[in-house]
Amino acid sequence: MNPSPTRILTGITTSGTPHLGNYAGAIRPAIAASRQPGVESFYFLADYHALIKVQDPARVQRSTLEIAAAWLACGLDPDRVWFYRQSDIPEIPELTWLLTCVAGKGLLNRAHAYKAAVDRNQAEGGDDDAGINAGLFMYPVLMAADILLFGAHKVPVGRDQVQHIEMARDFGARFNHIYGGDYFVLPEAIVEESVATLPGLDGRKMSKSYDNTIALFADPSVLKKQIMGLITDSKAPGEPKDTVGSALFQLYQAFATPAQIEAMRAAFADGIAWGEAKQRLFDVVEAELAPMRMRYHELMADPGRIEDILQAGAAKARAIATPLLKELRFAVGLRDLRSKPESKAGSAAKPALPVFKQYREKDGKFYFKLSHSNGDPLLQSKGFDNPREAGSFLAKIKAEGKAAWHELRAVTELAEMAEESHALDALEAIFQDAIELI
Ligand code: TRP
Repeated sequence: MNPSPTRILTGITTSGTPHLGNYAGAIRPAIAASRQPGVESFYFLADYHALIKVQDPARVQRSTLEIAAAWLACGLDPDRVWFYRQSDIPEIPELTWLLTCVAGKGLLNRAHAYKAAVDRNQAEGGDDDAGINAGLFMYPVLMAADILLFGAHKVPVGRDQVQHIEMARDFGARFNHIYGGDYFVLPEAIVEESVATLPGLDGRKMSKSYDNTIALFADPSVLKKQIMGLITDSKAPGEPKDTVGSALFQLYQAFATPAQIEAMRAAFADGIAWGEAKQRLFDVVEAELAPMRMRYHELMADPGRIEDILQAGAAKARAIATPLLKELRFAVGLRDLRSKPESKAGSAAKPALPVFKQYREKDGKFYFKLSHSNGDPLLQSKGFDNPREAGSFLAKIKAEGKAAWHELRAVTELAEMAEESHALDALEAIFQDAIELI
């Protein structure tokens, strides 16, 4: 029997124009991955996410068109993958609300993007939340809906997004637990270390925020001018040059064949002139981009064609999303009033939960332990001098669940025969039960 396909899903925020870094770091590897056997790929234009930071409607529209055209021009096959626009899938905002109602606000407070905005405000001595819209705060929930709606197993992301995937797991697990079913697959982040992170014109990571990008589909004359402007050291022609730390060499590696790379390495050692090295870089980049640029311009000239492709993609995606949402609505109690009231699955025969117990030992100290419902110990605390110390510790654990894991582990030891992961699961189960009681 064939194993069921692995679902891979990624969203692209439609807030800018694709640059060379996006191409080498995301578009090119994603398209290559979508051609592998045994995978189902979901790529979508995250235009709801774009609204969090872009409030210029023309720019949102333009960016959506450019990014869609870029992915198609680079070879994404919409018949083979699921390629759609987030805002064409009404199930996404609907699921966002269902997840919002199980998401811990405390967890959202700790999301990096939100925290960074608060930190900036604090550094400037302003109100914590000055200028922060609630969209930024809720961003991880919308992203979780994107992922959970399609049962994605793997989500290729940059390092900065790993926390969001963990949050998606958290919300999905809570929903599954509260409503007693396997509604959601819990996704895993994949951070591709081997994928090229390209340097920009100034040698720092290529990024819109540094204003050092090389446009993906600018005219060849613009591309050439940008490449000629790349910052290098001031070594003269004939002087040997270092490949290590050279932005030019790194860019070259992302576009050249292994043989070309070796030849360039030798040329560096032989003291190739920077102008000549830049010309060679331009040649390999241009060779790869030229055919795609032609397709890109054809597509940009025919927005109706892209719109049709996205509409077809939305229909294909909704074939998955609509039935799931129907099931989820029923699960939470948004039901046809004629249907027989039914409590949530599993609540009748709720499994016994793991427990925390506090006790005093002969040494006069106060302890607590975490045990399985059958009494098998999982974690054993150190001795506390007074019961209040131990008690307030437990209260914190019960209030924060897994977030307090490291603090809990700092004062406990793993019981013999117990495994770390079981203790963590037990903590999660207790915590979710506590949430349910609210
Ligand atoms: N937040 C992602 C980014 O800025 C974009 C995104 C939105 C996304 N929804 C997603 C990525 C779901 C992966 C999965 O890069």
